[in-house]
Amino acid sequence: MQQTTIKADVLRGPFDPGGQPALKQKDHMHLSLFAWNVRSGLSASKAVLADPDRYRDFWRWPSAAKLLKETEAAGFDSEIQYGMWSGYGGATGWNDASLDFATGAAAAAATTEKLGLFTTIHVGYEFHPLLIAKITGATDYISGGRLAVNLVAAQNVGDFHQFGFDEVPSSDVRYDIADEFTTLLKYLWSSDEPIDFDGQYFQAHGAQINPRPAANPRPLLMNAAGSDRGLEYACKQCDCLFVTANDSSIEAYAGRAKKLHDMAAKFDREVRVCAMVYVVMDETDAKAEATVDWIREEIDRDAIENWLIRSGHVMNSEKKVLADDQIGEDRADTSDDPYLGIGEEYYNELGLGMGAYRLFGSYDSVADQLAGLYEAGVEQVALCFFDPHRGVQQMGEHVIPRLRERGLNRV
Ligand SMILES: Cc1cc2nc3c(=O)[nH]c(=O)nc-3n(C[C@H](O)[C@H](O)[C@H](O)COP(=O)(O)O)c2cc1C
Repeated sequence: MQQTTIKADVLRGPFDPGGQPALKQKDHMHLSLFAWNVRSGLSASKAVLADPDRYRDFWRWPSAAKLLKETEAAGFDSEIQYGMWSGYGGATGWNDASLDFATGAAAAAATTEKLGLFTTIHVGYEFHPLLIAKITGATDYISGGRLAVNLVAAQNVGDFHQFGFDEVPSSDVRYDIADEFTTLLKYLWSSDEPIDFDGQYFQAHGAQINPRPAANPRPLLMNAAGSDRGLEYACKQCDCLFVTANDSSIEAYAGRAKKLHDMAAKFDREVRVCAMVYVVMDETDAKAEATVDWIREEIDRDAIENWLIRSGHVMNSEKKVLADDQIGEDRADTSDDPYLGIGEEYYNELGLGMGAYRLFGSYDSVADQLAGLYEAGVEQVALCFFDPHRGVQQMGEHVIPRLRERGLNRV
């Protein structure tokens, strides 16, 4: 007997079949370990070479398995994979190796028991939503409903080339693709019946997955857009939204958080705002500062330069940013400039945390600033540590108890 199919009548968001998953817990800052699956994480510094196993290759198995177990035991809520298909080279091979979205998430599911699991998937490389629904549905099922998916539109020209594309589509096209991808993914995650979907970018005929995710109504979705077009997509379709701010002040983060909460409310939706945070902490501010100084002195200049080129920041002799296909032409000579033409502050920000909110200091300073971010509307933090095994242990022993003293994360 032929099964009846459902014709998808929605192609773009907002689309929340069965409603939005629960996002918030009162007085609770959601704590995530970020970038555990990528070589050197957010540290572009030759300091990692002082002890490569500890600072650079924590992503390797079984080190990463141990790190995930430590993260769970320390009281974190989740881990978040950094989605990378290539890195930036330099003396440290910054981000040049990583566990992919499918293997990393399945391995994390099998290694842990209660930790939330965010995997990061690029929608721009034309993976069919059925493939992604199948993999994520099965991973969520295996983990007992712990998976969340960070959907990134993709914007890295080198990776578009790796997948055989000549160029990066415009922001409008990237986020139209993401919107349609997300709609079909949500249908496949939640429907009892096979789906017929006739979109501009994706078609599916009688498509269905089994097992479906254990999470009800569906796994959480995250997004890290920065552009207004991207943020609109994120507020319509996703649940946890990454924010960054040009100046690393709590006020700037409060402004970004308010903007996203307001934008989502226009679509009758809620979002959980998440900041990426780079952490170096110790018993005293001075001890943490000494480590920060060391990492800063050792910044991997070649890796930063490659990052700048890949993300379209390289300038011409008139200090205008060069488009990717102009990079060989009239390039500004920065050989005498220790900061590659971008200024000391931005150079240091990239080396230590790639523009993340920087959290350096004693356990008290770190707990105070996390509480301040929460107060400012940042409900989740994606923490990346120079020294991940130690950082996770410091969170469990010193910072989470201090958050409790400040009225947060009591259970
Ligand atoms: C905190 C944060 C995390 C991100 N994580 C990833 C990632 O794991 N993989 C990736 O390819 N891009 C990642 N991005 C890039 C974003 O997906 C996005 O493309 C970028 O912020 C530019 O925004 P736009 O796409 O709206 O122009 C991240 C960005 C931010 C701010």
